[in-house]
Amino acid sequence: MFATVPVKKLSIESSRPIARVVPARSRTSSLLLILAALPLLATAEPSGLEAPPESIKQWYKPANKRQVWLHTMFNLRRSQQAIEEYAGAREGELVKKWVAAYAQSYRQIPEMVPEWGVEADLDALGGLEQAAAAGDLPAVKSALGKLGRSCDSCHLDHQAVTALLMRGPDFGPLQVQGQPFRKAMEGLSTQVNRVKIGAEDGRWEPAQTAATVLKQQLLDLGATCDQCHQDAYPKERILGSSIQEKLTELDSALAKGDKEETGKLLGHLGYNVCSRCHGVHRTLTDLREELSP
Ligand code: HEC
Ligand code: HEC
Ligand code: HEC
Repeated sequence: MFATVPVKKLSIESSRPIARVVPARSRTSSLLLILAALPLLATAEPSGLEAPPESIKQWYKPANKRQVWLHTMFNLRRSQQAIEEYAGAREGELVKKWVAAYAQSYRQIPEMVPEWGVEADLDALGGLEQAAAAGDLPAVKSALGKLGRSCDSCHLDHQAVTALLMRGPDFGPLQVQGQPFRKAMEGLSTQVNRVKIGAEDGRWEPAQTAATVLKQQLLDLGATCDQCHQDAYPKERILGSSIQEKLTELDSALAKGDKEETGKLLGHLGYNVCSRCHGVHRTLTDLREELSP
């Protein structure tokens, strides 16, 4: 089972009223809106981040051949757009056609994930179908607007976390040279700091040894990129030839006992190798771990 992460742990407050209020145009109107939202803030349960129910897994790879849930969502967005555009152009027959497609996808939501059934507004859906059948285009538009609020509401609660857990890369099971990925990360950090401490104290020999180990560790890490990336580009950008050059320069700076140059090169590596990859992969991995047991 997925765990529900208590709000406190991630320090995310119920941000819904705030998020909607802040972009308001004038200061006075945003103040009024904030005041209007205060009772909501005071009474609403904090929303927190919640992992989706297990039942959604069957609608994603690897349990399913396709990302069925996601494609249902794409279908909804496409048919919603078609309904809006044809209603605007007073094309009643085409509205009817796309309302049927929309309704079919929409009804799949509670069927696929019964736990989220309450999020689907089937009354409004019935209203949309009736309006389309009667050729009442203004009523079509207003029913569609109402249904749109059900999309927004579920997305606020579930979209980001579902995308992360169902489709985001999972570094958890990865190994680097037989070590858990996280251990390998700690190893990198240890060697980087050993170089730094050695340079600081003029102890160049241990610093050189650490730099040699670091180089090998980065090669080993690079081998893991290929497990997910079919193209060479992401690895080239973070661990490619320009970084190899910097590692060679680091060797000579250490051999010369050049403290300033060593500092500069470590800074370059820290930014271009570690921080860049962390920006893409670490934060989401940390979040994923918070959300999974
Ligand atoms: C794949 C790109 C990638 C590169 C390159 C990378 N890291 Fe990481 N790093 C990660 C990911 C992903 C995590 C989160 C791992 C986890 O929590 O399971 C992480 C976590 C860490 C952690 C925390 C480990 C822990 O115990 O939570 C440290 C420390 C770390 N990295 C150091 C470094 C250093 C130092 C470098 C550069 C020399 C570096 N990393 C380069 C992806 C990368
Ligand atoms: C019961 C919850 C729920 C309802 C109701 C819902 N969605 Fe979604 N929707 C999700 C989740 C969860 C995701 C994230 C799926 C993912 O990224 O794999 C999502 C993702 C999407 C995406 C993909 C966005 C992207 O580009 O990655 C679109 C488009 C979308 N929904 C459209 C709609 C529309 C239109 C409606 C209303 C007619 C709707 N959804 C109703 C839960 C819901
Ligand atoms: C567990 C799977 C996985 C592993 C292992 C992995 N990545 Fe990724 N990475 C992804 C996914 C998925 C994306 C987003 C889609 C894409 O770009 O392929 C991504 C995106 C990226 C991006 C941003 C997009 C781009 O092409 O520039 C970079 C940079 C990147 N990864 C670097 C790395 C490096 C370097 C390694 C190895 C040290 C690595 N990744 C290992 C799955 C992974």
